[in-house]
Amino acid sequence: MDTLASTRSLTAADLKDNLRDIQDNVVAPIMMRYGRHIFVEFNDGEKSRAFLRNMFGRVNARQEEHGVRFTVNIGFTYQGLKMLGLSQRALDSFPQAFQVGARGRAGDVGDVGPHVPEHWEGGLGGPEIAAMVWLRTDSDEGREEATRILRDEMKATGGVEIRFIQDTKALAHENGIGSEGEHFGFADPISQPAIDGADAPWYPGDGVLEENGAWRLLKPGEFVLGYEDELGPDGTLAPEPFELRWNGTYMVFRKLYQDVAAFRRYLATAAKALYGSDDPYHRDLVAAKMMGRWRSGCPLDLSPEKDDLAIAADPERRNNFTYADDEEGARCPRGAHVRRVNPRATHMMRETAVRRRRLIRRGVEYGPHLPESALEDDGVDRGIVQMLIQADIERQFEFVQKEWMSGGEFMGLDPNEHDPIVGVGGEGSQMSVPGAKQPFLFDLPTFVKVKGSEYLFVPGLKALKGVIEQRF
Ligand code: HEM
Repeated sequence: MDTLASTRSLTAADLKDNLRDIQDNVVAPIMMRYGRHIFVEFNDGEKSRAFLRNMFGRVNARQEEHGVRFTVNIGFTYQGLKMLGLSQRALDSFPQAFQVGARGRAGDVGDVGPHVPEHWEGGLGGPEIAAMVWLRTDSDEGREEATRILRDEMKATGGVEIRFIQDTKALAHENGIGSEGEHFGFADPISQPAIDGADAPWYPGDGVLEENGAWRLLKPGEFVLGYEDELGPDGTLAPEPFELRWNGTYMVFRKLYQDVAAFRRYLATAAKALYGSDDPYHRDLVAAKMMGRWRSGCPLDLSPEKDDLAIAADPERRNNFTYADDEEGARCPRGAHVRRVNPRATHMMRETAVRRRRLIRRGVEYGPHLPESALEDDGVDRGIVQMLIQADIERQFEFVQKEWMSGGEFMGLDPNEHDPIVGVGGEGSQMSVPGAKQPFLFDLPTFVKVKGSEYLFVPGLKALKGVIEQRF
């Protein structure tokens, strides 16, 4: 292993040369529609390492077997790293949030009420889950073929057992709204942080807003470990040593069930309450007020009265907004989902550097669409598998969940205001919609339920090899 000083930190210019050492799906999405997330237990350190030794050659290699293409990637829980025999010193150097894990931190991040870990599936967040292997491929057959190969390898070495499998399939082109869309019918994703050195196209709105109104790229250390971040050259200093964190990242996995029928029904109720009419225009307007974008992806900040498909289709315009001249939320409510999770230039009660709270989202849908215009649930499991990528789970994911999605005081809203899409909802919840005839919604239903969560460390390839060879 290279002998780099533990405090060494790299710049954006170095990132370009390291892209191949960073796992797929981190700095750039994998554009293959079929996904599978295989959660495994390690019940024997030696045998698990043998399994990983075989698997290592598949990670990032874009395999082709029997004519089908697939990619394989892997992230570990704290328990998994412990089972693999990482030294106590290295284990102790991981941040507290990662060591405790998603289940232990549930109460802190708003996984309460309908979201509590007692309802999570497959033992997710529990002590048995050691790692998540995720596959991306072009077809059902590809998914089965890749799984068969991995299963055979697990059988050959022993020591690794599958605990839970979650499939995904991106709903691209199926709902008639353009490129991509999630179950509630909104285009997604549009806004992703743009990373300096990632060598990827980026557009106004993706990066950091400067005082002069221009946008710039984010420092890579906000997402990839070992690099300068927005605070300075050191970046995140965990885990130790440098070689273990180099080109790695932290991923928060969330299985989020979506109650599409409840959402559709509520749009009519809310449209009547806010505007005195539940015609299609007002139902769409309510949906947009809750999300902060029209279903097309056109942001309310740019077009508050009506959808504008030309803006939605234009990458130079659809993310180029700041909320700066909308302090009251007359255009886009301050409590709307996208304004909460990335408030841009919104004035906040407590000084907070928005650029330090950004998340890369590699979310993909699972389950089929609820048939168009159906208002009753069909009992089918559907939602989003979120994979949120960052350098510091506590500073990024946990802060966004805790401070920005739950409660409203950070923006001068009532403490009972929560994210209307993802929040807990229920009795006492509310949302203000300035400009509506009757500008408040009360007692919002719960539309999204957490069905599982994991905190994972996704090492760079050299570091993964080092873990397998017990060099840390
Ligand atoms: C089922 C649950 C969710 C749904 C349906 C959903 C839907 C959406 C949609 C439609 C957008 C707008 C498209 C875009 O700007 O890219 C969006 C943006 C976003 N969402 Fe969510 N989301 C969900 C959960 C979450 C969670 C749990 C988080 C983080 C903790 C999150 C963080 C974000 C962020 C950071 C953005 C980009 C905002 C911006 O930069 O303007 N979302 N989401």
